[in-house]
Amino acid sequence: MEFTNCWLQYEKISDANHKDIKVYATTEGNIINNAIEELTTAFDMLYNRRVEAVFGGEPKDNENAAASSVELRLNPELKLGKEAFRIDCDSGRCVVSAQTQAGLLYGVFALIRNLRVQRVYDFDKWSFTLEQNPSNPIRMLDHWDNMDGSIERGYSGNSFFFEKDEIIINERTYAYARLAASVGINAVAINNVNVRGMATWLISDKYYDKLRSLSEIFGSYGIKLYLSINFAAPIEMGGLDTSDPCDERVKEWWKNKAKEIWQHIPEFGGFLVKADSEGRPGPFTYGRSHAEGANMLADAVRPFGGLVIWRCFVYNCQQDWRDQKTDRARAGYDNFMPLDGMFADNVILQIKNGPMDFQVREPVSPLFGGLKRTNAMLELQIAQEYTGQQRHVCYLLPWFKEILDFKTYCGREHDTVADIVAGRTYNNTNCGIVAVANTGNDINWTGHDLAAANWYGFGRLAFDTGLSAEEIASEWIMQTFGYNEKVMENVMEILMKSWPAYEKYTSPLGIGWMVKPNHHYGPDVDGYEYDRWGTYHRANHKAIGVDRTPAGTGYTQQYNEPLASIYADKRTCPQELILFFHRLEYDYVLPSGKTVIQHIYDSHFEGADEAARFLDLWRELEGLIEDEAFGRVEKRLIHQKEHAKEWRDVVNSYFYRISGIEDEKGRPLY
Ligand code: GCU
Repeated sequence: MEFTNCWLQYEKISDANHKDIKVYATTEGNIINNAIEELTTAFDMLYNRRVEAVFGGEPKDNENAAASSVELRLNPELKLGKEAFRIDCDSGRCVVSAQTQAGLLYGVFALIRNLRVQRVYDFDKWSFTLEQNPSNPIRMLDHWDNMDGSIERGYSGNSFFFEKDEIIINERTYAYARLAASVGINAVAINNVNVRGMATWLISDKYYDKLRSLSEIFGSYGIKLYLSINFAAPIEMGGLDTSDPCDERVKEWWKNKAKEIWQHIPEFGGFLVKADSEGRPGPFTYGRSHAEGANMLADAVRPFGGLVIWRCFVYNCQQDWRDQKTDRARAGYDNFMPLDGMFADNVILQIKNGPMDFQVREPVSPLFGGLKRTNAMLELQIAQEYTGQQRHVCYLLPWFKEILDFKTYCGREHDTVADIVAGRTYNNTNCGIVAVANTGNDINWTGHDLAAANWYGFGRLAFDTGLSAEEIASEWIMQTFGYNEKVMENVMEILMKSWPAYEKYTSPLGIGWMVKPNHHYGPDVDGYEYDRWGTYHRANHKAIGVDRTPAGTGYTQQYNEPLASIYADKRTCPQELILFFHRLEYDYVLPSGKTVIQHIYDSHFEGADEAARFLDLWRELEGLIEDEAFGRVEKRLIHQKEHAKEWRDVVNSYFYRISGIEDEKGRPLY
């Protein structure tokens, strides 16, 4: 086997009943065929029961008694959302209804998931109803895959989309689409946002045939294909001397390009754009705004129903570290807030969860509470770039829940981040959630078997933001490892404690960035201190942190009240973010009653102890988990334990040496 099925590896629940199951489908279609395939696999593997598909009809009354059935009822009149579904099961007769085929597919995956999670012994005696409308219109994965097969910030092998400048389509492509659809993903961008070299040429004859096939495979699972594009494509591909969005030739070039793309790939979704960021070209070169840049592309894709997803990760990456006035945290808001209301309706701004860059802890980006007339999408990262790179276990769902539940105080009744990106706050439909993907061609897809919980969890949460991190973890554990009480208990403890533990043994109190440059792995307290990236903690012998209050960089003022005041006052600022917003002396007493320095020492000892415990908890499961998976995870947890110790000692020693303050508890600081 070249790859696992992650959470779709079905274990037998019962083979007491061998009666066939009839699956009635009102129509045929690619998505429906996949839905039937899913039912066939699931009933075979869970119950050893055969499925017989009947197209174009419904069960006749006299058939009901004889056969159990699942009816897939496509009903465009149904008063539910486009991708919503309804399941009604009563004693062996199930009806799944939806407006669209995609809705039916989600219904089928939900039906199977519930059979497994509820451990339904006898399908013929099962009564169940569920109606669900996805929380977010767009539920997207962004892959940072390069065309040479490498993956930017990829921690699980190479790309399964590209190799040697070619697009790969094989068994894994289908398996990927199936896994993604099973958790409700409906949009995928396959190439890195940093579009260089041949990736610029993805939108050309050389690749259209393969892209069309890929789009059709994705389409058969309800997923739209997107591509990251190069804003300078009119120059690099089109031979123009400019990519100025206000130049008529440039507009014309993109219009023709869009027409050509949709001619070849009729179900294409649209463009993802990283512009004027970290060396990528963009409208700034021509003195144009991001609204002008995005709207020009939006005009080109509009006739085909296309979207332009425009990233807000725009900041000065050539900063002089001596400069204390420029604050990278301010950049997103400073660049995009003045443009609120100027973007076309088929443009969506894709905003990273925090103002910096996927650190283990950051405040929520103030753009969510600021923008009122602009479509917004939340960008998360399940590739664990700064959270252990899929070598450490770090279940991110508790963090994602905090971000979604964050109240922005934007002055509307529904004012959380979850409300805004779901479209509830401002009544928009072009919005949603996206995650930078954590997959690659490793046997287990995600490098660390436990990192698949982030893939599964992201999809489930994007589909239903009401789920808790524990509920998601519990579903995932059961479906991945099979049901066993001890497995449930220990893996749950590992997952739920992993993000807090990672935070404790890495960077304290909202500081972030204490990582080795370039690869961002392992401790280096000053790793980013004298560099050009604008990510400083400015620790000296007395104090640490950046003053972002009105007396400092003024970043706190980008928030709505009362947040601006809460963050600006060190007595009310949440402790876990205090060094993000304030510069504090080491003997400053935190709300917890501990000094800053003692907090640093204690949390690093605690975090490293917790990482060590994860290994013990896992080892208790030997024999209860399939050998290979057990071994793979054990190896990673051994590394994590050692590496957490390294983090603890490097960070604690650094602050001991710089502050000269002893640990109250007398533990070794080197
Ligand atoms: C981070 C990451 C880069 C990536 C960038 C982005 O800075 O390290 O590899 O290109 O984010 O989001 O565009």
